[in-house]
Amino acid sequence: MKNIDSYTHVRGESIYLDDIPLQQGTLFGAAFGSPHAHGKILHLDLSAAEKMEGVVRIFTHKDIPGRNQIGGIVPDEPLLAEDEVHFVGMPVAFVVATSADIAYAATKKIKIDIDPLHIITDPREAREKNELIVPPRTFRLGDVDSAWAQSEYIFEGIAETNGQEHLYIETQGAYTIPLENNFIKIYSSTQGPTAVQRHMAVVLGIPMHQLEVDVTRLGGGFGGKEDQATLWAILCALATFHLKKPVKYSLHRMEDMMMTGKRNPYSSDFKIGLSKDLKILAYEATFHQNAGATADLSPAVLERTLFHCTNSYFVPNVKATAYSCRTNLPSNTAFRGFGGPQGMFVIESAIAKAADHLGIPASEIQQKNLLRNGDEFPYGQKAESEANECWQEAVEMYEVEKLKAEIEKFNSENKLSKKGLAFMPICFGISFTKILMNQARALVHVYTDGSVGVSTGAVEMGQGVNTKMLQVAATIFSIDPSKVKVHTTNTFRISNTSPSAASSTADLNGKAVQIACNTIVERLKPVAAEILKVSDSVIELRDGFVWSDGTKTDLTWEQLVLSAYIKRINLSEHAHYATPGIGFDASVEKGHPFAYHVYGTAITTVTLDCLRGIYEFDAVKVVHDFGTTMNPIVDRGQMEGGIVQGIGWMTMEEIIYDKEGRLRSNALSTYKVPDIYSVPKEIDIHFLETKNDNLAIFRSKAVGEPPLMYGIGAFFALRNAIKAFNPSADPAFSAPMTPEKVLMSLYSKTATPSPKPQLIKEHE
Ligand code: MTE
Ligand code: HPA
Ligand code: MOS
Repeated sequence: MKNIDSYTHVRGESIYLDDIPLQQGTLFGAAFGSPHAHGKILHLDLSAAEKMEGVVRIFTHKDIPGRNQIGGIVPDEPLLAEDEVHFVGMPVAFVVATSADIAYAATKKIKIDIDPLHIITDPREAREKNELIVPPRTFRLGDVDSAWAQSEYIFEGIAETNGQEHLYIETQGAYTIPLENNFIKIYSSTQGPTAVQRHMAVVLGIPMHQLEVDVTRLGGGFGGKEDQATLWAILCALATFHLKKPVKYSLHRMEDMMMTGKRNPYSSDFKIGLSKDLKILAYEATFHQNAGATADLSPAVLERTLFHCTNSYFVPNVKATAYSCRTNLPSNTAFRGFGGPQGMFVIESAIAKAADHLGIPASEIQQKNLLRNGDEFPYGQKAESEANECWQEAVEMYEVEKLKAEIEKFNSENKLSKKGLAFMPICFGISFTKILMNQARALVHVYTDGSVGVSTGAVEMGQGVNTKMLQVAATIFSIDPSKVKVHTTNTFRISNTSPSAASSTADLNGKAVQIACNTIVERLKPVAAEILKVSDSVIELRDGFVWSDGTKTDLTWEQLVLSAYIKRINLSEHAHYATPGIGFDASVEKGHPFAYHVYGTAITTVTLDCLRGIYEFDAVKVVHDFGTTMNPIVDRGQMEGGIVQGIGWMTMEEIIYDKEGRLRSNALSTYKVPDIYSVPKEIDIHFLETKNDNLAIFRSKAVGEPPLMYGIGAFFALRNAIKAFNPSADPAFSAPMTPEKVLMSLYSKTATPSPKPQLIKEHE
């Protein structure tokens, strides 16, 4: 089934925040952000801005009726700065005016005196100064200390990944409308309607039941609107609260890039020990996460880095420690993969380093260490592994031996053009790592004409979750999909939602829809049985008709529904789902946190222009474990988008802050994202149908985040192509591998500039 939004999308008729018709009297907001990354506020002068014609009022922290606090995990984040500023762009004041242009112009007239304090942008410096967001955490398995002695080879090094701008096409924004009795209706481009509602209630000092958050869809979120949509909505609501007027704020692109956090950059140390036959015996990693100024979601991101620190491999002895480091940058946040990609990059670097020094392809080490059924993850859960199946299937169906031979031939025949190949296996845990978040609710109404309305806590952000929700209802009722509509996500209809995140939205909300629909079916069966004068047990709903004992009757879905209504049977249901069997004990860092894992293997090939340092990805060929996909079109879209987004992170998207904490890559002219020309020439996706039972909706495994991690293969494919040209090159494990870095490596005599000298220790 096609994505249900495609019809309105291609006509430009889909409604995003900026398309909502404005109410009369709507005012427009703009935030004034700190020009300095760190310092004490000595004086704030609003007078010139206030005098501008059209400026209605300027709000500061003094106007907050409740608490000036929007921190989600740690209460360390003010809505508006009070005495200090902690990053460039930190909101200090909120101008409300009769037009957006006037509001922006007024922010330029605000003057602020700041007494500067020391600025930290590097997470390692933050760790040295003990600027930690939360205490460090360590995951352990076996005993690394004694495993080093048994290791034939030991390698150490540094691996670094930079941040990533979410670049949702729709920027952040909100529109708030006053209702009677101090109720407020909030349109917000958020992945977490309840997060908006909850924090707004705290800031305004009113109960949550006065705040109706409504979301039609987002023009992308990618994690950037899991927590960071809240701020803008509350700024608007603060103004609406005081002025009793509708207030809208839709950020400019450069404003959004400057003020919002990105994927957490990491700087990590690794140490890997291998046996003579290339089994990984021990792995130690220390992760330094650049959290930015406040906690935001970083502690949860940090946790997922630890969960995924061994990627798809079984390692018997592991010690992984992670530090969440406070810096004077906008708070970094959720981004597709949520710390998992950052963790996986480090072990892939460790394997690549070992392979370099042993003079073998990394794939030999990768393949030998893939997780098998029953292997234990460092956090205690046992794998139900498809890792090996995916790998083997990829090797066979994509004829890897032939591919390798072709590449070797090409490389021997071409001097200034080289090809590289890399394998990237993935393993990603599905569930929110915070157990309580693994719950969802759905409200299903069957109307008297047989049409169906479905509401859930799921937010549509392009990932196709509404299409899947519709499919669940249409399948359970066995009616034509055109009879079902999915309604907006609304906190008055569905309460206490978890954000649409962790790739779990379809599973959690879909199961709730399934339960609600099944309950309604069970109420309808006796009605049909009575009409047909048979027993309930032989009744079945199939293809819009009632079937009795396996035979189609004349009784239609519409007739059945109307008869049930006449008999005063409840045709609506509100259902709740909570993932069973999951748990985690953080005091020992062990448990069974994930409902299941998603596996896969990608083979990436690249052609490198060794004169210019530019490159083109020939192909990404994937075997991916979907369980049994419920929507191949939507799932293929997620795969392709995730792969390209991952390649962007690994190769061209380069976030640059200067030492003063100012974002230099602050527009699309200086921050390069993949366009249609940088998409691999070929993306092959083989849907591996895996038979194991799982907790996914209709056994269709979550697909939102996992494919991003295939992009890591792009880094290593490029690295291999560089080494084919210049065997003495030792490109640093420092992503992104931009064309500049590629060019430097191609002509370097030894290691390319790396953050610190790389330690290489061969045992004995
Ligand atoms: N796909 C599109 N088109 N737009 C998005 O914003 N977000 C990604 C992924 N795919 C995103 C997307 C992220 S970060 C997550 S967690 C999942 O979708 C969320 O949706 P799901 O739980 O329904 O997979
Ligand atoms: N993934 C995404 N978002 C989250 C998670 C997670 O595991 N935990 C809390 N928010
Ligand atoms: Mo996705 S990073 O869990 O929103």
